[in-house]
Order: sequence, then structure tokens, then C-alpha cells
Amino acid sequence: MQKPNLNNLRLLISAASPKQFPRDGKPQIAFSGRSNVGKSSLINTLLGRKAFARVSSAPGKTVTVNFFDVDGKLTLVDLPGYGYAKRSKEEQAVFSRVTDGYFTSNPTFDSLKLVLQLVDVRTGPTDDDLSMIQFLVDSEIPFVVVATKADKLSRAALERALAEMKDTYFSEVDVTLIPFSSETRLGRDTLWNEIYRVL
Ligand code: GTP
Ligand code: MG
Repeated sequence: MQKPNLNNLRLLISAASPKQFPRDGKPQIAFSGRSNVGKSSLINTLLGRKAFARVSSAPGKTVTVNFFDVDGKLTLVDLPGYGYAKRSKEEQAVFSRVTDGYFTSNPTFDSLKLVLQLVDVRTGPTDDDLSMIQFLVDSEIPFVVVATKADKLSRAALERALAEMKDTYFSEVDVTLIPFSSETRLGRDTLWNEIYRVL
């Protein structure tokens, strides 16, 4: 595929209900992970923007799925973060409906080409992260695991953390683990290559 023009970006919709999800058949790349793990920052870094996908000041509050059109060629999908403890019951219900809707409502599902599953490199996967990864494996949805906030560790500690994560959680499944930092842009090119591979 010809590389998309990153100056041609548009918020398609900030969807609060699965009914609003775009059904235009364009390939979608989704970003999943717990609240505050760095999904919106990662999207901004990929797109070379400072604040295109908002970076949350109130974590976990936005229960919308944000669809970003990239040059009419692909759609980036910023999913709401899970595992946010301070959500009210009502907010949690909306969260489940919208997120489950994304992964199960068919027209969107067919367009989903790759999930970037974000995990904080300092803590490794939470139980919610592991459930999500198991779901992706079971559903045969292509995914890569992105170890975020790599800049917070020294080089040696980063190597250790990645090796430990692989050994502890991903020794049986063939998982691509990519270190990333929105501060230093480590991993940006690698992630774009993963995206191009599935388009
Ligand atoms: P929700 O929208 O609440 O689900 O959060 P999110 O996953 O979109 O996280 P967001 O991108 O808003 O980042 C959360 C916080 O982590 C912000 O304060 C970011 O500045 C910070 N952050 C994100 N990525 C990195 C990173 O690579 N390195 C460092 N040092 N901080 C980061
Ligand atoms: Mg966000």
C-alpha cells in the first residue's frame, strides 16, 4: 500500500454506541489497553501529532470509541481504557456495551485487521490485559503486544523487563512484543511496519 499522507487526518466519529461505528469497510487498526497505559499518546506519536487523539486528563472518563481516518486509507480506533476502578456502575455498563460491541458487531469486526494491545512495560500485563490477550488469541484476531513507557526504564532494565514478560506470559503463544515510548518515539517505525503488513 502507498504510505498514507499523515497531514490528511480526520476524526470520523467519537462513538458512544455501536450503532455509530463506521461501516465503510476501510481497514481498522485498534488500540486496546487499560486506562492510562498510553493508547492516545501512541496514536499521536504514530501520526506525528501532539494532541490529535486526546491525551486524557481525566483517565477512564471518556467512554467512547474514537475512529480516526488516515488519508482515506485506514482507520485507527482508540478504544476506551479498561480497568478503571473509579468508574461508576453506569459508566462501567456503557463501557462494556461499547467495547464488546466493537469486538462483536460484525461489520466492524470484518474490517479489524490488527489490534495493538498495550501493556505498561514497568508492570507487565494485568489480569485484564491477560484476559484481553486470551480473547484475541481465541478469536484469531491478529495482534501485537506493545510495551509502553519504555523511556521510564534504563536500557538494561528495559531488556530485562521484556525478556521477563516474554518468559512469564508469552512463552507458549507466539507473541510479537514491541517496546515503545511516546517520549522518545522508540518503536514507532516498527509499529508502522506491523500496520503496513496487514493492510
Ligand atoms: P485512557 O484514554 O484513559 O484510556 O488513557 P490512554 O491509554 O489513552 O493513556 P494516555 O495516552 O492518555 O496517557 C496517559 C498518561 O501517560 C499521560 O500522562 C501521558 O503523558 C503518559 N504517557 C503515555 N505514554 C507515555 C510514554 O511512552 N512515556 C511516558 N513517560 N509517559 C507516557
Ligand atoms: Mg486515551
